[in-house]
Amino acid sequence: MDRPRIAYTKLFMTKRERVFNHTNQIHRPPFSKPVMKNHSVVSIQTQDRDWVKQVVTEQWASSIVVTRGQVHNPASLPGFVCWKGEKRVGLVTYRVEKQECEIITLNSFAEREGVATELLQAAEKAAIQSGCNTLWVITTNDNLDALRFYQRRGFRIAKVHTDALKESRKLKPEIPITGLHEIPMRDEIELKKNLN
Ligand SMILES: CC(C)(COP(=O)(O)OP(=O)(O)OC[C@H]1O[C@@H](n2cnc3c(N)ncnc32)[C@H](O)[C@@H]1OP(=O)(O)O)[C@@H](O)C(=O)NCCC(=O)NCCS
Repeated sequence: MDRPRIAYTKLFMTKRERVFNHTNQIHRPPFSKPVMKNHSVVSIQTQDRDWVKQVVTEQWASSIVVTRGQVHNPASLPGFVCWKGEKRVGLVTYRVEKQECEIITLNSFAEREGVATELLQAAEKAAIQSGCNTLWVITTNDNLDALRFYQRRGFRIAKVHTDALKESRKLKPEIPITGLHEIPMRDEIELKKNLN
């Protein structure tokens, strides 16, 4: 007797799709450096400073950034801009203290093209050249993309500073109460990468 071919195929495909989707969500391919086309990463120049201030104000709710109870002014920090042709498509700022380099801001305006990866690598290289042995960054508990991004690039969660944002809001009241994915913004998550 002939089998109902269409129904059988559909059943098989559905199961395969389900398995594929399931494993794809859990097992992402190992990180490999993306290849960027027509992009260049250049250290922040004097003429970029106004743009840096504008980006930080738009992306981080004010021109300052607070991490671990300290106020930073990214427009006066060293960093790198990613250019795509004539357009600025990404920014990283950082600060060096003793032998540690902290990433203060990292923003991409052309997502999933490798922009942030390249910027992070430029900052890491600069940190090594400055004699740093650690690269660290603070993100907030709602920023699941950043947690994935940094961990896939060699960072480990070093500390969770619960309720740290209560203190940060005293210095920067613009920090929202609710963050990405409607998650209450409460904690600072400290990620570290050993550069040795
Ligand atoms: C998190 C953030 C910086 C990532 O920026 P991005 O430019 O999209 O980052 P990349 O393109 O380098 O990598 C992102 C993903 O795209 C993938 N990707 C890169 N190039 C790709 C390409 N050509 N095709 C398909 N995927 C690509 C990468 O593999 C990566 O996935 P993974 O993290 O699972 O490995 C960005 O989403 C952002 O600006 N967020 C808001 C600010 C923020 O939260 N900053 C971090 C806290 S300081």
